Amino acid sequence: MTHHITLIPGDGIGPEVAVATARAIEATGVGVEWERVQAGAKAFEETGHLLPDSVFESLERTRVGLKGPLTTPIAGGHQSINVTLRKRLDLYVNFRPVRMLPGLKTRFQGVPIDMIIFRENAEDLYSGLEHEVVSGVVESLKIITRTASLRIEQATFSFARREARKKVTAVHKANIMKMSDGLFLRCCREVAAEFPEIKYDELIVDNACMQLVMRPETFDVLLLPNLYGDIVSDLAAGLVGGLGIVPGANLGEGHALFEAVHGTAPDIAGKGRANPTALMQSAALLLAHLGERQASSRLHQAIESVYAEGTHLTVDVGGSASTVEFTDAIIAQLG
Ligand code: NAI
Repeated sequence: MTHHITLIPGDGIGPEVAVATARAIEATGVGVEWERVQAGAKAFEETGHLLPDSVFESLERTRVGLKGPLTTPIAGGHQSINVTLRKRLDLYVNFRPVRMLPGLKTRFQGVPIDMIIFRENAEDLYSGLEHEVVSGVVESLKIITRTASLRIEQATFSFARREARKKVTAVHKANIMKMSDGLFLRCCREVAAEFPEIKYDELIVDNACMQLVMRPETFDVLLLPNLYGDIVSDLAAGLVGGLGIVPGANLGEGHALFEAVHGTAPDIAGKGRANPTALMQSAALLLAHLGERQASSRLHQAIESVYAEGTHLTVDVGGSASTVEFTDAIIAQLG
């Protein structure tokens, strides 16, 4: 069977990590036909649009995409491309597994960190509803709805049941934002009651950050509204080696977009030094999503083996290998 996958290489180091990852996917033996489309700064230069219609047309056909990092120009009032993609495709789940790679030197080396972060991806302070009330006073609206809360919570608990995870921790600030975070939390409790076999607890976001640093091994599945999820998922990535390592996925009912969560790394773009691990780990998630479980776990194991060996690691994680040398080592493991 041939899978049709939209590939958005992106900007900066995006094309380098995208080529590396496409090679790794192909080396698993899975049949893939890529639909390559441009978004971001390069697309803007060529078409005058950061997100040309061709991106959505392709994703409508394939329903699944792999995306490198994108540059959103800071000035000029452009909405973030990533936020626009999530909104237009209704990708309401942001999913980030955070696991330690064997051999990788981090501050928490030896600590068995294995947590899954579910972040609501569509509303909260990312609704883009901001205005100047009077000169010098600006209001940003934090939108929390029962519908959006229940659907991320159902997705989280269903995943926990399917994957036999033991605990879900909801993270909030309902002691201060009694109405908005209070609603999110009430919905969490409702959904938790439908899953009695899964332990459920709650943490206020500031305490959650401290506990994550003090006792990261005690966390299992975390469930957060959008803004806390954005911040806490980067904190969690830092526990296991940073954004160059962890994968990410944006999931909805109709579409799934797997991505590198790091940026375009303009300081090393074009130098052959980019670490493609994050996008490769996202590709392993993508393969599982397509039902290619064996290929997914082979790719995952190949990444683990290369890290355990430690002789073909890129500069950012203490090695001296180029992007291509690291990728060749992954492919040798798959061969
Ligand atoms: P960044 O993640 O691009 O870079 C931060 C540091 O990490 C740099 O020193 C970079 O060299 C290093 N780094 C990041 N990924 C790496 C990798 N795979 N291999 C080796 N080193 C890596 O973050 P920064 O500098 O804040 O953002 C740069 C640009 O990226 C901005 O235009 C921003 O808008 C965009 N961006 C895009 C994202 C996305 O599309 N998902 C996410 C974050 C930023």
